[in-house]
Amino acid sequence: MKAMGALVMSLALSACSTEEASRSGIDYATVDVPVERLSSDEARERGRQIFKQNCVLCHGERADGNGARSKGLSGKAANFNNAEWRESVTPRFVFEVLSEGKRGTSMPAWPTLTDDQKWDVVAYVLSVAERGP
Ligand code: HEC
Repeated sequence: MKAMGALVMSLALSACSTEEASRSGIDYATVDVPVERLSSDEARERGRQIFKQNCVLCHGERADGNGARSKGLSGKAANFNNAEWRESVTPRFVFEVLSEGKRGTSMPAWPTLTDDQKWDVVAYVLSVAERGP
């Protein structure tokens, strides 16, 4: 029984000592990834529409980081056409950036988008390098 208590305690401690908590307290490392949605053409198309409305200002019509407002931002708006960028990120990371914004840059959080809408945008931006904007 005592050993059990110690085990629970050390698990609790190790959980606390992992990554800095997000502002919303959500642990994005464990968020469920809707794998089918990410490879769905319909989701990508919905995401593309959301992108057009909200993201082109900075990330550009062609999702290449050259939007009208891209000059003078803190951090260069990411170019999603780049295969290296695509390889360097995970769906969870993109979902987290949309949910929390990117600290220290001009990338805002998107509390106005639902989780489903955010996953649609994730599906879109992750498809750009391979399939074009
Ligand atoms: C006000 C300008 C602005 C708007 C609007 C904006 N972004 Fe960004 N975004 C940025 C900047 C600046 C960065 C930081 C680039 C960096 O540090 O890599 C960024 C970073 C990102 C990143 C992380 C890239 C990386 O590799 O770290 C993603 C993903 C992203 N934006 C997606 C979006 C999506 C999707 C939208 C629309 C819902 C959007 N952004 C709207 C400016 C903007």
